[in-house]
Amino acid sequence: MKNIPWWQPQFGEMERHLIGDVLSNAFPNEGVLTGIFEKKIAKLLGVRHVLAVTSATAGMFLSLKAAGITQGDEVIVPDISFIATANAVEMTGAKAILADVDPKTLTIDTKKIERSITKRTRAIIPVHVSGRGADMKTIITLARKHELFVIEDAAEAFMSKHEKIYLGTYGNTGCFSLSPAKTITTGQGGLIVTSSDSLYLKLKMLKDQGRPVRGTGGDDIHPGLGFNFKFTDLQAAVGIGQLSYLKKRITRMKKNYRLYKTGLENIPGFSLLPFQIDNGELPQWTDALADRRDELDSYLKSKNIHCRRYWHPIHTQAYYKQSNTKFPVSTNSSPQAIWLPSSFTLTDKDVEDVCKAIRRFYSNEKKN
Ligand SMILES: Cc1ncc(COP(=O)(O)O)c(C=O)c1O
Repeated sequence: MKNIPWWQPQFGEMERHLIGDVLSNAFPNEGVLTGIFEKKIAKLLGVRHVLAVTSATAGMFLSLKAAGITQGDEVIVPDISFIATANAVEMTGAKAILADVDPKTLTIDTKKIERSITKRTRAIIPVHVSGRGADMKTIITLARKHELFVIEDAAEAFMSKHEKIYLGTYGNTGCFSLSPAKTITTGQGGLIVTSSDSLYLKLKMLKDQGRPVRGTGGDDIHPGLGFNFKFTDLQAAVGIGQLSYLKKRITRMKKNYRLYKTGLENIPGFSLLPFQIDNGELPQWTDALADRRDELDSYLKSKNIHCRRYWHPIHTQAYYKQSNTKFPVSTNSSPQAIWLPSSFTLTDKDVEDVCKAIRRFYSNEKKN
């Protein structure tokens, strides 16, 4: 039986060729190629500035630092996300205020944002789960009203649009991840995008030991405080190579979702989470709410079909532990939520086989 992975990164000749060039030049750290990669991303998304950093988590941390967020401040984040979103806040010394999510999209519930705002609130970090846009229009309106900074956790939303505008470009900054289960990967890595010149300068200094301009590493001038969150040209070589497959990957990922949508209609106890593909949303991962999720996952695994169970709500993790009462939606939804095989490497037949197996599971004809 063919193995159908949940996700499969893929690399080609272009990356190998570009890595070879970097190695021949002998200085593989952040340099000219990283700048080229950043410019290519800026052009794709139509933003003024892009900074390549070590991860999306680092991107959010640096964005918070650039906004001056520190101990005593509060930042609102959704209870359903990869824990990185809340960790980026807590690592600055500020407090992550968890807000419940919308039951239809599993993105942050904007009514809960409003209720969580106090005089200490400084920022909101909406998360675009699976590439599905949080309600950015409402979030930006709320942020303007309460003078809050917005950092988009667009780790899963590269090239995905919400209401025809690229996710990651609504907020003061947007942070993308380049880890392996993403539309393009550089192994690890992240991108911060911003249209603000002043934020760009602050971020540039923060990611490189307080230097606005790289020098020799010897007699440089460091007007501020910073750390080392720099990229490498080895990663940029991989990233530039990966961009050459972007169009094909996007087409395939949209097709995966469309095939799932028709193949999985009207199954009692099973529903796909929605994507507005016609408005430009890109399903990086196709996700669903499923009755008897763990049983379904084990059944599919026995057929060599690999899914991924959703994150536990952040409020259930040790560092963030709180009672379930404030989080009815995340508490109820997370144990039902699952990512189906979503890779751009899937074929029509793979997706059809997954649909058939899910139908068989719910029709209780599981013997064959
Ligand atoms: C929603 C979300 N936020 C943040 C991250 C962290 O990204 P990184 O691993 O690049 O730090 C991820 C990673 O998958 C993610 O899915």
